[in-house]
Amino acid sequence: MKIGIIGSGAVGNALGTYFGNMDHSVTGYYSKTLAHSVLAAEKIEAIAYDSPIELALHNDITIIAVNDDAIESVVDDLMKASESFSKKYFLHTSGVHTSDLLAPLQSKGAKVLSFHPLQSFADTEEAQKAIPGTFFSVEGDLDDILINWLNNYKIKYFKIDKENKIKYHLAAVVVSNYLVATLDFGTKQFESLGYTKEFALEALWPLIDGTLRNVKQFGSVQALTGPIARGDIKTIENHLSVLTGLERELYSKLGEYTVEIALEKGLEEKVAEDISTHFKEENHG
Ligand SMILES: NC(=O)c1ccc[n+]([C@@H]2O[C@H](COP(=O)([O-])OP(=O)(O)OC[C@H]3O[C@@H](n4cnc5c(N)ncnc54)[C@H](OP(=O)(O)O)[C@@H]3O)[C@@H](O)[C@H]2O)c1
Repeated sequence: MKIGIIGSGAVGNALGTYFGNMDHSVTGYYSKTLAHSVLAAEKIEAIAYDSPIELALHNDITIIAVNDDAIESVVDDLMKASESFSKKYFLHTSGVHTSDLLAPLQSKGAKVLSFHPLQSFADTEEAQKAIPGTFFSVEGDLDDILINWLNNYKIKYFKIDKENKIKYHLAAVVVSNYLVATLDFGTKQFESLGYTKEFALEALWPLIDGTLRNVKQFGSVQALTGPIARGDIKTIENHLSVLTGLERELYSKLGEYTVEIALEKGLEEKVAEDISTHFKEENHG
């Protein structure tokens, strides 16, 4: 099946390179900025289309990898086609939106799906290496033809119901974006002691890496170590004494959440309550 990609940003480039390098099935790109689609197309010996309609008509599968807020306007553009889209598939890559955004295309005979890579693509070049092993959530008109297509390209996928997409996407944002925010919070403490950003990350990396490996191996409850898991309330008081403002609030909010994990791991209830009261006073006054 021939593939066309609308949007030549991080995700568009990653998917184009993955499918294109495998068997040249990606015929080309259409993007808002022509130079960007030309650049993406050149990497995989494909072409830059002049319009989204031309792209859709020349391909069996159109992947719409534009920013979330632009998906509707791409659909509006595609709806201007006088031709039918019968037997064609349209997939968007948004995590939070459902295939409903593409529903108008069904009136032209198209099958529509949301096809979201559960991955963080921060950089166009690095993004290309991230597809193998990445899980995709799929929702919408998933039929045997598309299942075969996914399997042929060794795409790992799971089905998701429309009504679950918001919570699903929130989970992805927490484990990726809020992990980044937490790492930033920690490394900034090192920076405030005069160490460089680079050294802070280098010195903390084995700890970060070890923690992630523990979570993978033992799960998030058994992986918990540190003062809350041990019930060391004085250590927590020491930490709070050097924090102010948003950082103090964040430490306390995360602390309140972490006490629940510690309880699950076996922290004595009385100790958990003491720590929790401490955090609650910080959080709720
Ligand atoms: N980045 C991630 O980690 C990630 C992960 C999973 C899913 N997603 C989803 O994947 C989608 C794309 O994200 P991204 O990070 O790749 O975004 P991005 O890097 O900002 O790229 C968006 C691309 O869409 C193009 N575009 C915008 N409006 C357009 C329009 N009306 N017609 C044609 N092209 C248009 C832009 O055009 P020009 O460059 O040509 O100006 C740009 O190339 C979003 O739905 C996002 O939620 C992202």
